[in-house]
Amino acid sequence: MYREGGGSTMMGPADGVREALRARGLDWPAPIEHHARLGSTSDLLKEKAREGAPEWAAVLADEQTGGRGRQGRAWASPPGGLYLSVLLRPQFAPASLIPLAAGVAVVEALREHGVTAELKWPNDVLAGGRKLAGILAEASSSSSGLEWVVLGVGMNLLAPSEALPDDLRDGAASVLALTGRRLEPAAAATAVLARLTVWYDALRADAPSVLRAWRACAVPWWGRRVELRSRGSVVRGVAEDLDPAGALLLTLEDGSRRTVLSGEVTAVRLAAEGTDWVGGR
Ligand code: BTN
Repeated sequence: MYREGGGSTMMGPADGVREALRARGLDWPAPIEHHARLGSTSDLLKEKAREGAPEWAAVLADEQTGGRGRQGRAWASPPGGLYLSVLLRPQFAPASLIPLAAGVAVVEALREHGVTAELKWPNDVLAGGRKLAGILAEASSSSSGLEWVVLGVGMNLLAPSEALPDDLRDGAASVLALTGRRLEPAAAATAVLARLTVWYDALRADAPSVLRAWRACAVPWWGRRVELRSRGSVVRGVAEDLDPAGALLLTLEDGSRRTVLSGEVTAVRLAAEGTDWVGGR
């Protein structure tokens, strides 16, 4: 049974986000919860999804002690970052494009705050080649189809690189380091949620428009040789395009074509760049 709450009840960051969304003309249709410290916003929201939480329910945390990234990796979550999860209950195809729509929303949210970022397939958000944000999409299906998707967005905002684990310091960027300005987590959350409603609607009305927007935000690797880590091996080929479901189309070295699904891939890099697997965070 779904129960609202568990986060702070005083006027706090969640109310601030709700108010800021209202000021943008969006009356947020679901609970927004804020927690000072959580294991993972996505873990909590998945529990709430199973209990029947409504579409657009959102959970924010100042800090995560068990933040998770793609492919079972940890997501370092010190104070000063955006840790946001939002629940979708898509009743339409193609749900495989939801992570791409979220990527476009995150890039546009950053742009609103003066940050130029790019998307690297499947859904890394890079600035100057360094990882600035990541998106984790987790879904649950039943015999009647897709029940829910929890989208988790992590963004490095204010954290100095010393707060990140050693292996991330060189590959990660933060909004503060890029712009010299503070972007507060509540303002980042507001922008991400607002842009997400735009691209979720676009997905329903005109899915190819999401693919076009994604390509326009993507690192320009089309026609270039890339390397993908997939199931313990490295696949090399020329990045050609995305297919209508958001999978990457490659031409392999023997001339054959291969379609790679995002779930198969742990990291992607330009073949020419040697050892730098930026985005493998
Ligand atoms: C990636 O590996 O690039 C995806 C990182 C996603 C991190 C976010 S932070 C909010 C939400 N809660 C989690 O535990 N993970 C996601």
